[in-house]
Amino acid sequence: MRLGPLTLTSNLFLSPLAGYTNLPFRLTVRELGGLGLATTDLVNARSLLEKRDKALKLIETAPADQPLAVQLFGAKPEEMRDAAVFLQSLGIASVDINMGCPVRKVCRVGGGSAMMTELEKTAGLVRGMVEAVKIPVTAKMRLGWDDQNLTAPDLARALEDVGVAAIFIHGRTREQGFGGTVNLAGIRAVVAAVKSIPVVGNGDVTTPEAARRMLDDTGCAGVSIGRGAFYNPWIFRHTLHYLQTGELLLEPGFEERTRVMVRHLDLMVEVFGEEHGCRMFRKVAPWYAKRFGPANEFNKHVVLLSSRAEFDRILEQYRAWRVQFLDEHGELKPRFRPAPMVASFMAEPGAPSYGHIPVPKGPVEVW
Ligand SMILES: Cc1cc2nc3c(=O)[nH]c(=O)nc-3n(C[C@H](O)[C@H](O)[C@H](O)COP(=O)(O)O)c2cc1C
Repeated sequence: MRLGPLTLTSNLFLSPLAGYTNLPFRLTVRELGGLGLATTDLVNARSLLEKRDKALKLIETAPADQPLAVQLFGAKPEEMRDAAVFLQSLGIASVDINMGCPVRKVCRVGGGSAMMTELEKTAGLVRGMVEAVKIPVTAKMRLGWDDQNLTAPDLARALEDVGVAAIFIHGRTREQGFGGTVNLAGIRAVVAAVKSIPVVGNGDVTTPEAARRMLDDTGCAGVSIGRGAFYNPWIFRHTLHYLQTGELLLEPGFEERTRVMVRHLDLMVEVFGEEHGCRMFRKVAPWYAKRFGPANEFNKHVVLLSSRAEFDRILEQYRAWRVQFLDEHGELKPRFRPAPMVASFMAEPGAPSYGHIPVPKGPVEVW
């Protein structure tokens, strides 16, 4: 898979997830394999230019964290351009622009032309960035405001014309938020709208089969995975293997899940210090626990985590408590096993979906 001048080892991407896609998480996922490119949380271009601690921490990286894209947001063309130049000077592989849903609802009279004006403005900002750097500049967007205003194909084409290297498209409208079904036809429309750049599909890919379906049904060149990687940081390795061989690898068992969870925590402590790292891990550990089977006993304590040693105690106590749910082989008894993951666009009509992936609070308008 190529992204402008960059050649990636796979067509699988880690989506930006503000508050989560920090260096420890990216390293954890990369160690498991299969990932082509990871992206940081979104970073405010102006804060970055002002060298604010928070922004610099968001772009903190390491030799094993390559290739890395930084996602920028901002409305001022000069700031976005200068931030891209700064990132290039640091050796960042690629710059992604957070478009959220930049084109407003256009149903009012004269809306069509208002939309064109916005498109031109956005294209102008992106052109300024593309012309200022050699590294690829990509854009991430939703399908549009609502089903009556699916503006992504027009925007994607306009951005291709000014030189973006790829489009990342979350197959939902802004009105949908994170609910409802990912619209594969909407992603396909974006693929059809561009001439030659890769379009990367995104939304609800929680299994290797869902990635296959998105690629097949939309013609997209790659798949970007966000929340699915929380439940399952192995998803990139398993998906790449499935795409290459057609073989589904077994879901990791409890021991492997806890091994990776502990590795993730150790990296959090290394990068953020023990106190802050443990505090941040309070919201990360319950994601791992969603695939443990019954886990109240674990979650209750881990959400108060404050030291590394305490984590070992919590895990040890949880192991002892969890025994009651296991059979003689040490496997979860069938009735306690978590339901298989099913992407919204893979659910049988009428079948109870496994629900939606929970969405932590945050500014959906920019996601
Ligand atoms: C907690 C959270 C934070 C997110 N932060 C960002 C962000 O910083 N930038 C962005 O473009 N999208 C962001 N998103 C959207 C994701 O990148 C992705 O488009 C969306 O979650 C759908 O993909 P998924 O179903 O694989 O998670 C965020 C989503 C969530 C749930």
